[in-house]
Amino acid sequence: MMIPPFLTPAVLVMLVVGGSAPSRGAERGPLALRQAFADAFLMGVALSTSQVNGTNDRAGVLAAQQFSAITPENDMKWEALNPLPGQYDFKAADAHVGFAARNNMNVIGHALIWHSQTPAWVFQGREGKPATRDELLNRMQAHIHAVVGRYKGKVIGWDVVNEALSDSGPDILRDSPWRRIIGDDFLDHAFRFAREADPQAELYYNDYGLEDERKRANGVKLLRGMLDRGVQLTAVGTQSHFQLDYPSLDAVEKTILDFSGLGIGVMVTELDVDVLPSRGTAGVADISRREMADKSLDPYTSGLPDGIQEKLRQRYTDLFGVYLRHRAAITRVTIWGLDDGQSWLNDFPIPGRTNHALLFDRALNPKPAFFAVLQKGQASRTRPPRR
Ligand code: G3I
Repeated sequence: MMIPPFLTPAVLVMLVVGGSAPSRGAERGPLALRQAFADAFLMGVALSTSQVNGTNDRAGVLAAQQFSAITPENDMKWEALNPLPGQYDFKAADAHVGFAARNNMNVIGHALIWHSQTPAWVFQGREGKPATRDELLNRMQAHIHAVVGRYKGKVIGWDVVNEALSDSGPDILRDSPWRRIIGDDFLDHAFRFAREADPQAELYYNDYGLEDERKRANGVKLLRGMLDRGVQLTAVGTQSHFQLDYPSLDAVEKTILDFSGLGIGVMVTELDVDVLPSRGTAGVADISRREMADKSLDPYTSGLPDGIQEKLRQRYTDLFGVYLRHRAAITRVTIWGLDDGQSWLNDFPIPGRTNHALLFDRALNPKPAFFAVLQKGQASRTRPPRR
Protein backbone atom coordinates (compact mmCIF):
# COMPACT_ATOMS: atom_id res chain seq x y z
CA MET A 1 0.00 0.00 0.00
CA MET A 2 1.38 3.43 -0.90
CA ILE A 3 1.04 5.81 2.01
CA PRO A 4 0.42 9.46 1.06
CA PRO A 5 3.09 11.65 2.65
CA PHE A 6 0.57 13.63 4.74
CA LEU A 7 -0.41 10.45 6.56
CA THR A 8 1.89 10.37 9.55
CA PRO A 9 2.01 7.03 11.38
CA ALA A 10 -0.15 8.59 14.07
CA VAL A 11 -2.88 9.55 11.62
CA LEU A 12 -2.55 6.18 9.96
CA VAL A 13 -3.03 4.30 13.20
CA MET A 14 -6.12 6.34 13.99
CA LEU A 15 -7.59 5.68 10.56
CA VAL A 16 -6.87 2.00 10.61
CA VAL A 17 -8.11 1.47 14.14
CA GLY A 18 -11.15 3.67 13.54
CA GLY A 19 -11.89 1.92 10.26
CA SER A 20 -11.82 -1.51 11.80
CA ALA A 21 -14.04 -0.57 14.74
CA PRO A 22 -17.63 -1.78 14.68
CA SER A 23 -19.27 1.50 15.65
CA ARG A 24 -18.55 4.93 17.03
CA GLY A 25 -19.47 5.87 20.57
CA ALA A 26 -18.16 5.49 24.09
CA GLU A 27 -18.15 1.68 23.96
CA ARG A 28 -15.85 1.81 20.93
CA GLY A 29 -12.91 2.54 23.20
CA PRO A 30 -9.85 4.74 22.88
CA LEU A 31 -7.59 4.72 19.87
CA ALA A 32 -4.18 4.50 21.46
CA LEU A 33 -2.38 2.06 23.74
CA ARG A 34 -1.77 4.71 26.40
CA GLN A 35 -5.50 5.25 26.75
CA ALA A 36 -6.56 1.65 26.30
CA PHE A 37 -4.33 0.57 29.22
CA ALA A 38 -4.72 3.70 31.34
CA ASP A 39 -6.73 1.86 34.01
CA ALA A 40 -4.34 -1.10 34.10
CA PHE A 41 -0.70 0.04 33.92
CA LEU A 42 1.63 2.48 32.17
CA MET A 43 2.40 1.53 28.57
CA GLY A 44 6.02 2.33 27.87
CA VAL A 45 8.47 2.26 24.97
CA ALA A 46 12.25 2.46 24.76
CA LEU A 47 13.35 5.34 22.55
CA SER A 48 16.60 6.27 20.84
CA THR A 49 18.12 9.76 20.65
CA SER A 50 16.82 10.50 17.16
CA GLN A 51 13.29 9.61 18.17
CA VAL A 52 13.18 12.29 20.86
CA ASN A 53 15.40 15.11 19.56
CA GLY A 54 13.37 15.90 16.46
CA THR A 55 15.63 14.09 13.97
CA ASN A 56 13.07 11.34 13.47
CA ASP A 57 9.89 13.26 14.00
CA ARG A 58 7.53 10.66 12.50
CA ALA A 59 8.67 8.19 15.15
CA GLY A 60 8.38 10.79 17.91
CA VAL A 61 4.81 11.61 16.93
CA LEU A 62 3.84 7.96 16.91
CA ALA A 63 5.53 7.23 20.26
CA ALA A 64 3.82 10.20 21.90
CA GLN A 65 0.47 9.16 20.53
CA GLN A 66 0.70 5.57 21.73
CA PHE A 67 2.75 5.44 24.92
CA SER A 68 2.55 6.96 28.39
CA ALA A 69 6.15 6.24 29.47
CA ILE A 70 9.56 6.26 27.82
CA THR A 71 12.84 4.62 28.72
CA PRO A 72 15.95 6.04 27.05
CA GLU A 73 17.26 2.89 25.33
CA ASN A 74 20.92 3.94 25.70
CA ASP A 75 21.17 7.62 26.62
CA MET A 76 21.19 7.32 30.42
CA LYS A 77 23.76 4.53 30.63
CA TRP A 78 27.01 5.36 32.44
CA GLU A 79 29.17 5.36 29.28
CA ALA A 80 26.76 7.80 27.62
CA LEU A 81 26.43 10.22 30.55
CA ASN A 82 29.86 10.06 32.13
CA PRO A 83 32.38 8.72 29.60
CA LEU A 84 35.45 10.25 31.31
CA PRO A 85 36.20 11.06 34.96
CA GLY A 86 34.41 14.26 35.91
CA GLN A 87 32.94 14.76 32.42
CA TYR A 88 29.19 14.55 32.04
CA ASP A 89 27.20 14.89 28.85
CA PHE A 90 23.49 15.25 29.53
CA LYS A 91 22.43 16.47 26.08
CA ALA A 92 20.74 13.31 24.84
CA ALA A 93 19.28 12.43 28.24
CA ASP A 94 17.86 15.95 28.52
CA ALA A 95 16.22 15.48 25.11
CA HIS A 96 14.30 12.47 26.46
CA VAL A 97 13.15 14.40 29.52
CA GLY A 98 12.08 17.38 27.39
CA PHE A 99 10.25 15.14 24.92
CA ALA A 100 8.38 13.40 27.73
CA ALA A 101 7.39 16.69 29.37
CA ARG A 102 6.06 18.08 26.06
CA ASN A 103 4.02 14.96 25.47
CA ASN A 104 2.80 14.27 28.96
CA MET A 105 4.78 11.06 29.33
CA ASN A 106 6.70 9.54 32.25
CA VAL A 107 10.46 8.95 32.04
CA ILE A 108 12.13 5.84 33.41
CA GLY A 109 15.86 6.14 34.08
CA HIS A 110 17.93 3.24 32.72
CA ALA A 111 20.35 2.16 34.18
CA LEU A 112 22.50 3.45 37.04
CA ILE A 113 24.65 0.46 38.00
CA TRP A 114 25.39 -2.23 35.39
CA HIS A 115 28.43 -4.38 34.62
CA SER A 116 28.03 -3.49 30.93
CA GLN A 117 28.30 -0.10 29.16
CA THR A 118 30.35 1.26 32.04
CA PRO A 119 33.72 2.80 31.06
CA ALA A 120 36.85 0.97 32.20
CA TRP A 121 38.15 3.99 34.18
CA VAL A 122 35.34 3.53 36.71
CA PHE A 123 36.98 0.35 37.99
CA GLN A 124 40.61 1.50 37.76
CA GLY A 125 42.69 2.63 40.70
CA ARG A 126 46.16 4.06 41.07
CA GLU A 127 49.32 2.63 39.45
CA GLY A 128 47.51 0.16 37.24
CA LYS A 129 45.72 -1.43 40.18
CA PRO A 130 41.98 -1.95 40.40
CA ALA A 131 40.03 0.70 42.33
CA THR A 132 39.68 0.07 46.05
CA ARG A 133 36.29 -0.55 47.64
CA ASP A 134 36.20 3.03 48.97
CA GLU A 135 37.23 4.53 45.64
CA LEU A 136 34.52 2.63 43.79
CA LEU A 137 31.85 3.41 46.39
CA ASN A 138 32.77 7.09 46.10
CA ARG A 139 32.47 6.95 42.30
CA MET A 140 29.17 5.11 42.56
CA GLN A 141 27.83 7.73 44.96
CA ALA A 142 29.07 10.68 42.89
CA HIS A 143 27.57 9.25 39.70
CA ILE A 144 24.20 8.38 41.21
CA HIS A 145 23.95 11.73 42.99
CA ALA A 146 24.85 13.64 39.80
CA VAL A 147 22.43 11.77 37.56
CA VAL A 148 19.47 11.15 39.86
CA GLY A 149 19.90 14.62 41.37
CA ARG A 150 19.72 16.29 37.94
CA TYR A 151 16.47 14.56 37.07
CA LYS A 152 14.89 14.70 40.53
CA GLY A 153 11.14 15.07 40.12
CA LYS A 154 11.42 14.52 36.33
CA VAL A 155 12.28 10.81 36.18
CA ILE A 156 9.63 8.78 37.99
CA GLY A 157 11.78 5.74 38.63
CA TRP A 158 15.26 4.32 38.09
CA ASP A 159 16.65 0.94 37.19
CA VAL A 160 19.11 1.33 40.05
CA VAL A 161 20.89 -1.98 39.51
CA ASN A 162 20.68 -3.88 36.25
CA GLU A 163 21.46 -7.58 35.69
CA ALA A 164 23.33 -8.42 38.89
CA LEU A 165 22.10 -12.04 39.03
CA SER A 166 24.22 -14.90 37.70
CA ASP A 167 22.95 -17.10 34.86
CA SER A 168 24.48 -20.32 36.22
CA GLY A 169 26.80 -21.72 38.83
CA PRO A 170 26.49 -21.78 42.60
CA ASP A 171 26.56 -18.02 43.19
CA ILE A 172 23.49 -15.83 43.29
CA LEU A 173 25.33 -12.78 41.97
CA ARG A 174 27.28 -12.66 38.73
CA ASP A 175 30.99 -12.06 38.78
CA SER A 176 31.31 -8.35 37.96
CA PRO A 177 33.76 -5.59 38.87
CA TRP A 178 31.06 -4.11 41.12
CA ARG A 179 30.84 -7.30 43.14
CA ARG A 180 34.58 -8.09 43.04
CA ILE A 181 35.65 -4.66 44.26
CA ILE A 182 32.83 -3.61 46.59
CA GLY A 183 31.36 -6.94 47.64
CA ASP A 184 27.84 -8.36 47.65
CA ASP A 185 26.51 -5.25 49.38
CA PHE A 186 27.07 -3.10 46.28
CA LEU A 187 23.34 -3.25 45.52
CA ASP A 188 22.36 -1.95 48.97
CA HIS A 189 24.72 0.99 48.56
CA ALA A 190 23.43 1.83 45.08
CA PHE A 191 19.84 1.94 46.31
CA ARG A 192 20.85 4.03 49.30
CA PHE A 193 22.62 6.59 47.10
CA ALA A 194 19.63 6.76 44.76
CA ARG A 195 17.27 7.32 47.68
CA GLU A 196 19.52 10.09 49.03
CA ALA A 197 19.45 11.84 45.66
CA ASP A 198 15.68 11.66 45.16
CA PRO A 199 13.50 10.77 48.13
CA GLN A 200 10.41 10.41 45.90
CA ALA A 201 11.69 8.39 42.93
CA GLU A 202 10.69 4.77 42.48
CA LEU A 203 13.69 2.46 42.68
CA TYR A 204 13.86 -0.77 40.68
CA TYR A 205 15.97 -3.89 40.42
CA ASN A 206 15.98 -4.95 36.73
CA ASP A 207 17.04 -8.26 35.17
CA TYR A 208 16.44 -10.68 32.31
CA GLY A 209 15.66 -14.40 32.28
CA LEU A 210 13.72 -14.32 35.56
CA GLU A 211 11.31 -16.85 34.08
CA ASP A 212 14.03 -19.47 34.57
CA GLU A 213 13.34 -21.28 37.83
CA ARG A 214 16.87 -21.10 39.24
CA LYS A 215 17.41 -17.47 38.38
CA ARG A 216 13.96 -16.51 39.66
CA ALA A 217 14.49 -18.29 43.00
CA ASN A 218 17.84 -16.50 43.35
CA GLY A 219 16.19 -13.20 42.44
CA VAL A 220 13.51 -13.66 45.06
CA LYS A 221 16.19 -14.52 47.64
CA LEU A 222 18.28 -11.48 46.69
CA LEU A 223 15.40 -9.03 46.85
CA ARG A 224 13.95 -10.52 50.03
CA GLY A 225 17.33 -10.04 51.70
CA MET A 226 17.47 -6.42 50.56
CA LEU A 227 13.94 -5.74 51.81
CA ASP A 228 14.76 -7.39 55.14
CA ARG A 229 17.77 -5.10 55.48
CA GLY A 230 15.52 -2.09 54.94
CA VAL A 231 16.65 -1.30 51.37
CA GLN A 232 14.06 0.88 49.68
CA LEU A 233 13.07 -1.09 46.64
CA THR A 234 9.83 -0.19 44.84
CA ALA A 235 9.58 -2.83 42.14
CA VAL A 236 11.33 -5.52 40.16
CA GLY A 237 11.76 -5.10 36.42
CA THR A 238 11.40 -8.32 34.47
CA GLN A 239 13.02 -7.44 31.15
CA SER A 240 11.07 -10.01 29.11
CA HIS A 241 13.22 -10.51 26.02
CA PHE A 242 11.14 -13.40 24.73
CA GLN A 243 10.88 -15.75 21.80
CA LEU A 244 7.76 -17.00 20.02
CA ASP A 245 7.61 -20.15 22.10
CA TYR A 246 9.85 -19.40 25.08
CA PRO A 247 9.30 -18.93 27.96
CA SER A 248 5.95 -20.56 28.69
CA LEU A 249 3.04 -18.41 29.81
CA ASP A 250 3.05 -20.45 32.96
CA ALA A 251 6.60 -19.34 33.75
CA VAL A 252 5.72 -15.72 32.95
CA GLU A 253 2.81 -15.94 35.37
CA LYS A 254 4.87 -17.62 38.11
CA THR A 255 7.47 -14.88 37.80
CA ILE A 256 4.86 -12.18 38.40
CA LEU A 257 3.41 -14.09 41.35
CA ASP A 258 6.74 -14.90 43.01
CA PHE A 259 7.97 -11.31 42.95
CA SER A 260 4.66 -9.67 43.81
CA GLY A 261 4.61 -12.07 46.79
CA LEU A 262 7.47 -9.99 48.19
CA GLY A 263 5.08 -7.06 48.43
CA ILE A 264 6.80 -5.04 45.69
CA GLY A 265 5.54 -3.96 42.27
CA VAL A 266 6.32 -5.93 39.12
CA MET A 267 7.18 -4.25 35.82
CA VAL A 268 7.69 -5.64 32.36
CA THR A 269 10.55 -3.40 31.34
CA GLU A 270 12.00 -4.51 27.98
CA LEU A 271 9.42 -6.62 26.18
CA ASP A 272 10.15 -7.92 22.68
CA VAL A 273 9.63 -11.19 20.82
CA ASP A 274 12.50 -12.58 18.76
CA VAL A 275 11.08 -14.33 15.65
CA LEU A 276 14.37 -15.52 14.13
CA PRO A 277 15.86 -19.01 14.29
CA SER A 278 17.88 -19.50 17.41
CA ARG A 279 21.53 -20.45 17.08
CA GLY A 280 22.04 -22.17 20.36
CA THR A 281 23.75 -20.88 23.43
CA ALA A 282 27.27 -19.97 22.29
CA GLY A 283 28.36 -16.40 22.99
CA VAL A 284 28.33 -13.61 20.42
CA ALA A 285 32.11 -13.79 20.19
CA ASP A 286 31.82 -17.33 18.81
CA ILE A 287 29.76 -16.38 15.80
CA SER A 288 31.54 -17.50 12.69
CA ARG A 289 31.59 -15.79 9.31
CA ARG A 290 29.75 -18.81 7.98
CA GLU A 291 26.89 -18.24 10.38
CA MET A 292 26.76 -14.55 9.58
CA ALA A 293 26.43 -15.45 5.91
CA ASP A 294 24.02 -18.33 6.50
CA LYS A 295 20.78 -17.08 5.04
CA SER A 296 18.75 -19.81 6.73
CA LEU A 297 19.46 -17.98 9.98
CA ASP A 298 18.06 -14.74 8.47
CA PRO A 299 14.96 -15.90 6.60
CA TYR A 300 12.66 -12.82 6.74
CA THR A 301 14.69 -10.14 5.03
CA SER A 302 11.87 -9.24 2.67
CA GLY A 303 9.07 -9.29 5.21
CA LEU A 304 7.44 -11.55 7.75
CA PRO A 305 5.39 -14.40 6.27
CA ASP A 306 1.71 -14.42 7.30
CA GLY A 307 2.12 -17.57 9.40
CA ILE A 308 4.86 -16.04 11.56
CA GLN A 309 3.03 -12.72 11.72
CA GLU A 310 0.07 -14.62 13.14
CA LYS A 311 2.28 -16.41 15.69
CA LEU A 312 3.68 -13.05 16.76
CA ARG A 313 0.17 -11.61 17.09
CA GLN A 314 -0.88 -14.59 19.19
CA ARG A 315 2.21 -14.35 21.40
CA TYR A 316 1.63 -10.68 22.21
CA THR A 317 -2.09 -11.40 22.75
CA ASP A 318 -1.30 -14.19 25.21
CA LEU A 319 1.32 -12.15 27.08
CA PHE A 320 -0.98 -9.17 27.50
CA GLY A 321 -3.67 -11.59 28.66
CA VAL A 322 -1.36 -12.61 31.50
CA TYR A 323 -0.34 -9.01 32.24
CA LEU A 324 -3.95 -7.86 32.42
CA ARG A 325 -4.90 -10.75 34.67
CA HIS A 326 -2.19 -9.56 37.05
CA ARG A 327 -2.80 -5.86 36.63
CA ALA A 328 -3.07 -5.44 40.40
CA ALA A 329 0.64 -6.31 40.64
CA ILE A 330 1.91 -4.87 37.34
CA THR A 331 2.58 -1.16 37.23
CA ARG A 332 4.13 -0.79 33.75
CA VAL A 333 4.72 -2.70 30.54
CA THR A 334 7.46 -1.26 28.32
CA ILE A 335 8.16 -2.46 24.76
CA TRP A 336 11.90 -2.44 23.99
CA GLY A 337 11.77 -0.19 20.95
CA LEU A 338 9.17 1.52 18.81
CA ASP A 339 9.68 -0.19 15.46
CA ASP A 340 11.37 -3.29 14.09
CA GLY A 341 14.17 -1.27 12.48
CA GLN A 342 15.28 0.02 15.88
CA SER A 343 15.37 -3.32 17.69
CA TRP A 344 18.65 -4.56 19.20
CA LEU A 345 17.54 -8.02 18.07
CA ASN A 346 18.62 -7.16 14.52
CA ASP A 347 22.17 -7.39 15.85
CA PHE A 348 22.00 -10.01 18.56
CA PRO A 349 23.18 -12.70 18.75
CA ILE A 350 24.12 -12.47 15.06
CA PRO A 351 24.78 -8.98 13.68
CA GLY A 352 22.97 -7.64 10.63
CA ARG A 353 19.85 -9.79 10.58
CA THR A 354 16.27 -8.64 9.95
CA ASN A 355 14.14 -9.26 13.01
CA HIS A 356 10.47 -8.36 13.47
CA ALA A 357 10.14 -8.28 17.25
CA LEU A 358 8.01 -5.21 17.96
CA LEU A 359 4.51 -3.76 17.42
CA PHE A 360 5.36 -1.45 14.49
CA ASP A 361 7.21 -2.41 11.32
CA ARG A 362 10.20 -0.62 9.79
CA ALA A 363 7.92 1.86 8.02
CA LEU A 364 6.20 2.59 11.37
CA ASN A 365 3.05 0.82 10.28
CA PRO A 366 1.11 -0.99 13.01
CA LYS A 367 1.38 -4.79 12.81
CA PRO A 368 -1.36 -7.31 13.62
CA ALA A 369 0.24 -7.69 17.05
CA PHE A 370 -0.36 -3.98 17.68
CA PHE A 371 -4.07 -4.25 16.95
CA ALA A 372 -4.35 -7.37 19.11
CA VAL A 373 -2.69 -5.65 22.07
CA LEU A 374 -4.82 -2.55 21.59
CA GLN A 375 -7.94 -4.66 21.50
CA LYS A 376 -6.92 -6.43 24.71
CA GLY A 377 -6.54 -3.08 26.43
CA GLN A 378 -9.84 -1.79 25.10
CA ALA A 379 -11.67 -4.95 26.15
CA SER A 380 -10.19 -4.72 29.64
CA ARG A 381 -11.76 -1.28 30.05
CA THR A 382 -15.25 -2.31 29.10
CA ARG A 383 -15.50 -5.02 31.76
CA PRO A 384 -17.56 -4.17 34.84
CA PRO A 385 -15.43 -2.72 37.64
CA ARG A 386 -13.76 -5.35 39.80
CA ARG A 387 -15.06 -5.73 43.32
O1 G3I B 1 26.01 4.97 18.99
C1 G3I B 1 26.95 4.10 18.31
C2 G3I B 1 27.19 4.60 16.94
O2 G3I B 1 27.81 5.86 17.01
C3 G3I B 1 28.06 3.58 16.20
O3 G3I B 1 28.23 3.97 14.88
C4 G3I B 1 27.43 2.19 16.24
C5 G3I B 1 28.31 1.12 15.61
O4 G3I B 1 28.08 -0.15 16.16
O5 G3I B 1 27.23 1.83 17.58
C6 G3I B 1 26.36 2.72 18.25
O6 G3I B 1 26.18 2.30 19.56
C7 G3I B 1 25.41 1.14 19.75
C8 G3I B 1 24.19 1.51 20.59
O7 G3I B 1 23.47 0.35 20.91
C9 G3I B 1 23.25 2.48 19.89
O8 G3I B 1 22.73 1.89 18.74
C10 G3I B 1 26.26 0.12 20.47
O9 G3I B 1 27.28 -0.32 19.61
C11 G3I B 1 25.42 -1.05 20.90
O10 G3I B 1 26.19 -1.90 21.73
C12 G3I B 1 24.23 -0.56 21.70
O11 G3I B 1 23.41 -1.66 22.01
C13 G3I B 1 22.49 -1.47 23.03
C14 G3I B 1 22.76 -2.50 24.13
O12 G3I B 1 21.75 -2.45 25.13
C15 G3I B 1 24.10 -2.25 24.82
O13 G3I B 1 24.05 -1.04 25.52
C16 G3I B 1 21.09 -1.66 22.47
O14 G3I B 1 20.79 -0.58 21.59
C17 G3I B 1 20.06 -1.71 23.60
O15 G3I B 1 18.80 -2.09 23.07
C18 G3I B 1 20.48 -2.75 24.61
O16 G3I B 1 19.54 -2.72 25.67
C19 G3I B 1 19.78 -3.66 26.73
C20 G3I B 1 19.35 -2.98 28.02
O17 G3I B 1 20.07 -1.77 28.19
C21 G3I B 1 19.56 -3.92 29.22
N1 G3I B 1 18.89 -5.19 29.01
C22 G3I B 1 19.22 -5.87 27.77
C23 G3I B 1 18.96 -4.96 26.57
C24 G3I B 1 19.25 -5.67 25.26
O18 G3I B 1 20.62 -5.98 25.17
